Amino acid sequence: MDFRFTEDQLSIQAIARDFAQKRIAPVAAEFDHRGEFPLDNIREMGQLGLMGIEVPAEYGGAGMDSISYVLAMIEIAAADCAHSTIMSVNNTLYCNGLLKFATHEQKLRYVQPIAAGSAIGAFALTEPQSGSDATAMRCRGVKQADGGYIVNGKKSWITSGPVAKYILLFAMTDPEKGARGITAFLIDTDRAGFHRGKTEPKLGIRASATCEIEFTDYRVEADEVIGQEGEGFKIAMGVLDAGRIGIASQAVGLARAAYEATIAYSQERKAFGQSIGSFQMTQAKIADMKCKLEASWLLTLRAAWAKQQAQENGGRFSTEAAVAKLTASESAMWITHQAVQIHGGMGYSKEMPLERYFRDAKITEIYEGTSEIQRMVIARNETGLR
Ligand code: CAA
Repeated sequence: MDFRFTEDQLSIQAIARDFAQKRIAPVAAEFDHRGEFPLDNIREMGQLGLMGIEVPAEYGGAGMDSISYVLAMIEIAAADCAHSTIMSVNNTLYCNGLLKFATHEQKLRYVQPIAAGSAIGAFALTEPQSGSDATAMRCRGVKQADGGYIVNGKKSWITSGPVAKYILLFAMTDPEKGARGITAFLIDTDRAGFHRGKTEPKLGIRASATCEIEFTDYRVEADEVIGQEGEGFKIAMGVLDAGRIGIASQAVGLARAAYEATIAYSQERKAFGQSIGSFQMTQAKIADMKCKLEASWLLTLRAAWAKQQAQENGGRFSTEAAVAKLTASESAMWITHQAVQIHGGMGYSKEMPLERYFRDAKITEIYEGTSEIQRMVIARNETGLR
């Protein structure tokens, strides 16, 4: 086993780190406070290749591997979780799904602008009545004689929904068939029949925009079906396997930022005549933070490696992705909690980013499959039982 990264991997990591520290970190608190979508930064990230890292150059991306994606995501998330959420949805939930299942013409049309950062993509699976139980969706696509579909229904919690140009949508086309009756569609948000609801006010990742969307007699053309009719649930699950590695990377970046701030503070801050880092209770917390952070980092890279292998040789990486997401998100929650505690009043104050890290960490345990769903996926795959 070789723990060294390639020159290309180190190069995208350095590009992401430089942009994150110079352009994102200085404005992250302000965008969070205003709940404002960082459109200019996202466009620039696209120009740097960060919005379609694994997308081949012919479709507007950087043409790099899954490890590169993880390394870049960690750097962006260490500066601001919300930026990394937008990056993650663009890269994996949107581009990754289309790369695997779309035709060459569909990729040229719908992946290219998103990977290049000139437009934003989104992924619509969740509904007001169905989150974890994704097959219980009510959004309907009814096939027309010419091969197109008419779509009606609502989707909720759509990350980047308020600004997305294109959306990868999952709708029920044959309710009798359950999971095998779901089809994936490409939605153009500028067309008639597409509506946006209000932007959700959120606890964390406040600079990433989230809303409900609704379709009223929205017409999908026959060449806007992604994959085959009835293949939508498998597409969604496969895309989420990749997405979960993105969320794990985000959790690692966020936790690393909280950890590094804590090390610096424990060296500087004095109490009872000494640095607080010399107290055993602080040391125990720091040691546990370090172990959880390193374990999360390694599991996330291993999941990315497994994904790369699956892309090259076939097969799935659902367990590796779920193990990485579960471990990294619960570790990020724990690490940011300890970081706030060690910072005391300063951890609770908006003068420092710790309270933001703490608020942002929570979502990593919820979206793209809750911790409970990750445990279900892991245990089902391990036991073969349902
Ligand atoms: N890859 C490919 N196929 C898969 C798969 C995967 N990872 N997981 C399941 N499938 C296939 C199964 O093999 C099965 O196929 P067959 O019909 O041929 O046998 C089919 O899909 C149905 O599978 P299950 O019976 O296991 O389905 P289920 O109804 O029991 O659901 C679940 C499984 C794991 C609970 C799934 O519903 C799930 O992951 N739920 C969570 C959904 C989720 O993550 N939502 C997040 C929303 S997106 C988001 O957060 C976006 C954002 O904006 C950031």
